[in-house]
Amino acid sequence: MCGIIGYAGHRPAVPVVVEGLRRLEYRGYDSAGVAFAGHDGLHVLRAKGKLAALEERLAGEVITTATCAMGHTRWATHGVPAERNAHPHTSNDGRLALVHNGIIENYQEIKSRLTAAGYVFHSETDTEVLVNLIAEKRKTAPSLLEAFAAALREAHGAYAVCLMDTDAPGSILAARMSAPLLFGLGTGENFVASDIPAFLPYTRQVIFLEDGEIVRATANGYEILRLADLSPVQREAQTIQWDMQAAQKGGYRHFMLKEIFEQPRVITDGLAGRLDNAGGQQACSVLLPELDDLPVPERLHIVACGTSYHSGLWGRHLLEEWAGLPVQVEIASEFRYREGLALGQKDMVLVISQSGETADTLAALRIARERGVQTLGLCNVVGSSIAREASAVIYTQAGPEISVASTKAMCSQMLMLALMALYWAQRRGSMDSQARQARLSQLESLPALLDAALPDMHATARQLARKYAQADSFFYLGRGHCFPLALEGALKLKELSYIHAEGYAAGEMKHGPIALIDPDFPTFTLALDDTLFPKVRSNIVEVQARQGKVIALSNPGMDLSVDDLWLVPPLPAPLAGFVALPALQLFSYEMADYLGKDVDQPRNLAKSVTVE
Ligand code: M6R
Repeated sequence: MCGIIGYAGHRPAVPVVVEGLRRLEYRGYDSAGVAFAGHDGLHVLRAKGKLAALEERLAGEVITTATCAMGHTRWATHGVPAERNAHPHTSNDGRLALVHNGIIENYQEIKSRLTAAGYVFHSETDTEVLVNLIAEKRKTAPSLLEAFAAALREAHGAYAVCLMDTDAPGSILAARMSAPLLFGLGTGENFVASDIPAFLPYTRQVIFLEDGEIVRATANGYEILRLADLSPVQREAQTIQWDMQAAQKGGYRHFMLKEIFEQPRVITDGLAGRLDNAGGQQACSVLLPELDDLPVPERLHIVACGTSYHSGLWGRHLLEEWAGLPVQVEIASEFRYREGLALGQKDMVLVISQSGETADTLAALRIARERGVQTLGLCNVVGSSIAREASAVIYTQAGPEISVASTKAMCSQMLMLALMALYWAQRRGSMDSQARQARLSQLESLPALLDAALPDMHATARQLARKYAQADSFFYLGRGHCFPLALEGALKLKELSYIHAEGYAAGEMKHGPIALIDPDFPTFTLALDDTLFPKVRSNIVEVQARQGKVIALSNPGMDLSVDDLWLVPPLPAPLAGFVALPALQLFSYEMADYLGKDVDQPRNLAKSVTVE
């Protein structure tokens, strides 16, 4: 949801900010804007559409030698994507400019008050209301900082904001509340941004700001203050270990394709340091020291959104089968409003989130904490809100995922869920060591297996995408551990190619959805070699009896007659999901690319959903 960058330094600031916005564009891309401090006051330039439109606008302008600037790339919450709603927004007196990520829930009420006081609004945004509230507070506050803090104390909701002032052209003020904001500590230059890649070419020193904190920065100094009373906060900077190469396309046509092909490496990295062979050749136990101090839960509630939710559904099978844990999986936006939610004191809430900033998932985590229940975060982004607020966190170590569609993150979540299931099985004694070792060696075999299989899978995906590109709708069917993958396949197809797709439990089709089947409504079925294969095959026959075309993702040697049989290397269930997942991802990727869609930045979406 919206990307923010602020810069105070010694370089020409606008190119630094625009370059930073380019690396934040995955967060939102319906409009963009910059503000910079010139000798003649603040300049604001905005444009509807992707960053390229703003760059065109900037090309026609004489960019001053400003060394302080800020920028924003937007995902609309209030008001349609349009230049008037793009950030930065300025105060009526023209002295202040503000960029904002989040939602000010009480903005209507504040707007009415300001309107009565004579303020005029040119956009539909809550941000324009906030910047004018700061301007109003400034009339009586002893300093801009105090006016900024006073206005933010009145604003309810989520925000990460950055403010510039005509009267202090070399400094930026920023603050966060339930939306991500980081401080980048450079040499003779400082940054604030929604995500690390925005400033990574310039510094690896990062301070993770907490909710209710303000940072005031110039080129040569900064201070972090508590919003509540402006008291100072001391916090060490952390050094980021990964580099820009990890956040670049590396020769692939799209980030999504690169990230799909990174999955073998993600598994290798995820297993590193997690397996103990106790001096022998073969891994025999799982090391998850993050969980050592937590009791084994009596019941696990997995809460997440989107693809992370599908990982949770998949992980349930392993946690139940291997560790014998009772597991419930719920969508975070539902979980957080469950009036009768029953949480036992020995339960654990596991929240899964690639970004670690998803508003609904974070809210679910906070509810669990308020209820005194142990919480565990499974996150990719180090230092994210969920990672910091959970009782314990396991990092998925997938590296930066830039494409809006989540791919390698799901693979890394599945891997960690498998390790958690084995780890708890160890502690509960619910699986004998031979079975555990067999699972571990299957996991260890995955990177090589996938490396070898991915090029062929890509070729098949391309061929099938061309064959089925005219379809308006798709079913994705699966049973057992393949049902969550069917949901994920359908999500990927709709979010990337805008083709309607439904994921269904194969056995549920006959209870209604099968009415939709006709020769133009194809079905993509996961028919892997597992105990449920005969049931899935019967469901395929039911579809075929209604003249439905079927693509089946299966393994060699399975007795199956379908329109398109897509064979992938076999692996015992449920780990076969690691092979099925990239097949589904590649099919959607190829479909979207063939149809000319914007693969890495699909319409209407944003990578990190920090609003409800
Ligand atoms: O960062 P999170 O894992 O919490 O994000 C959850 C969903 O927003 C995300 O998985 C979304 O569904 C993706 N667009 C899927 O590709």
